[in-house]
Amino acid sequence: MSRARFVTFEGIDGAGKSTHLSAAAEWLRERGHTVTQTREPGGTELAEALRDLVLGRDMDALTEALLVFAARRDHLQRVIEPALAAGHTVLCDRFTDATFAYQGGGRGLDTHVLGVLEQWVQQGRQPDLTLWFDVPPELAARRRAQARAADRFEGEDVRFFERVAAGYRDRMAGAAWRFARIDGARDVAAVRADVLAAMERLC
Ligand code: TYD
Repeated sequence: MSRARFVTFEGIDGAGKSTHLSAAAEWLRERGHTVTQTREPGGTELAEALRDLVLGRDMDALTEALLVFAARRDHLQRVIEPALAAGHTVLCDRFTDATFAYQGGGRGLDTHVLGVLEQWVQQGRQPDLTLWFDVPPELAARRRAQARAADRFEGEDVRFFERVAAGYRDRMAGAAWRFARIDGARDVAAVRADVLAAMERLC
């Protein structure tokens, strides 16, 4: 059985992470990993219900942060921790870096408060590897415009996403050992090659 690993995929909306998460899951399965593929906010019945609220209802930034951390707690207890204990490789579409980027960078919440919630909720659990799809906010906005209807975050302006991107850069600066920065502005094949090179670390 392969060693359990927790891998997260991050980036601003339109960065392309979700496409590459599926490809990475397939690649790992071909190499004998048992893969649990999940997402945040979400991944359990309760957390998916909280996701609908966070993406669909008007609320202030602290309420947003408390709901995503509540969803995260349920997700960790019911899905992520059991999967890691069973030796699975867990691929998660967004995790706590997104909270620091969106609620911290984007909405301007105090990152020390987020850090306290992170400690409480995660009890030291951190991703082993985080793939950060770094894409200029203008390019991501063009990609989003071609996709489906915007949720509460996707409808924000480019300045919001510049702050979110800065939030991701700050998180990477504080935990460089677990981050792989992927230049997501290139074509899918080039990005995919970098994603798989990062995945090699897990094999
Ligand atoms: P996203 O992951 O982009 O899903 P989809 O590909 O289905 O659109 O959407 C989730 C949204 O939730 C995204 O806009 C970022 C936001 N979000 C936060 O604001 N804070 C968080 O902690 C997380 C996990 C997500």
